[in-house]
Amino acid sequence: MKISLPTRGSDAISPTAHYTGYVWYRHGLSHPGLATPQGRALYHWARPFNFGSRSLGGPTLEGFLLARHRAIDALLDQAIASGAVGQVIEVAAGLSPRGWDFARRYGSRIHYVEADLPQMALRKRARLAAAGLETPQHRVVALDALADDGALSLATLAQSLDPGKGVAIITEGLLNYFDTDTVLGMWRRFAAVLKSFPTGVYFSDLHLASDNRGAQTRVFSKLLGSFVRGRVHLHFGSVAEAEAALHQSGFGKARLFAPEPQPTTAGVIDRKGAALVRIVEAACV
Ligand SMILES: C[S@@+](CC[C@H](N)C(=O)[O-])C[C@H]1O[C@@H](n2cnc3c(N)ncnc32)[C@H](O)[C@@H]1O
Repeated sequence: MKISLPTRGSDAISPTAHYTGYVWYRHGLSHPGLATPQGRALYHWARPFNFGSRSLGGPTLEGFLLARHRAIDALLDQAIASGAVGQVIEVAAGLSPRGWDFARRYGSRIHYVEADLPQMALRKRARLAAAGLETPQHRVVALDALADDGALSLATLAQSLDPGKGVAIITEGLLNYFDTDTVLGMWRRFAAVLKSFPTGVYFSDLHLASDNRGAQTRVFSKLLGSFVRGRVHLHFGSVAEAEAALHQSGFGKARLFAPEPQPTTAGVIDRKGAALVRIVEAACV
């Protein structure tokens, strides 16, 4: 299959959603209805790079993807189980299975909103419908994480939520495709929205400059950059810098931690891959 990718802006990131969607499926985390032919093609295209990197003792894409995904799942499980969170907005959800998975596991205890750019939201809705995966507690909406106001903004979406229930906002695989000012803008918008709910938490993955040094990692970043036809931004030099930026953006509590490495379906544990990414756990208090 010929792979043709858009070249600029937010739309250029969308092909990676097909790739990660296929990785989640391939590792038993997703439903076949959310795996696309584009995802499968990208997965096979990237295999030699992953194999080469691993043979040289380096990281793999799957290593950091599985580590980040499971870590965010665990944070969200805890937040819902404790009763702190009853509503979830997953920004840039792409073809991730999390909305479907949490909605089927928690039923009416949660309301799960997946939000992505209009085209991806349409595609996700169609795929969920075709595979019979829709539930009343799960919806997919169009949203632009860069919009301050208007129909596609987070502020407008938040007005449709129950003001009496705690909210979690999630981003996964989004931040490092944008420059620092854009990320700080997103964080300010997230914190401003979360403040108006009884509990407001934010979970994400984030790659730091301090974890991504060395020749192997630079080659690896290039692979990722070639997917998105652009640069991968490493905004912060350390955990402390990133935590300070979250505080300044309006989060009263913020910490970054290293996710546990996770086994692939082949039983391989990629510690180097997991070490490339940090998990953000922030809250408005
Ligand atoms: C790397 S994919 C990650 C998808 C999913 N979170 C996952 O981990 O499988 C990035 C996603 O960000 C979405 N995206 C890019 N720019 C966006 C924006 N400005 N607002 C909302 N979503 C955006 C893309 O459409 C794509 O679905």
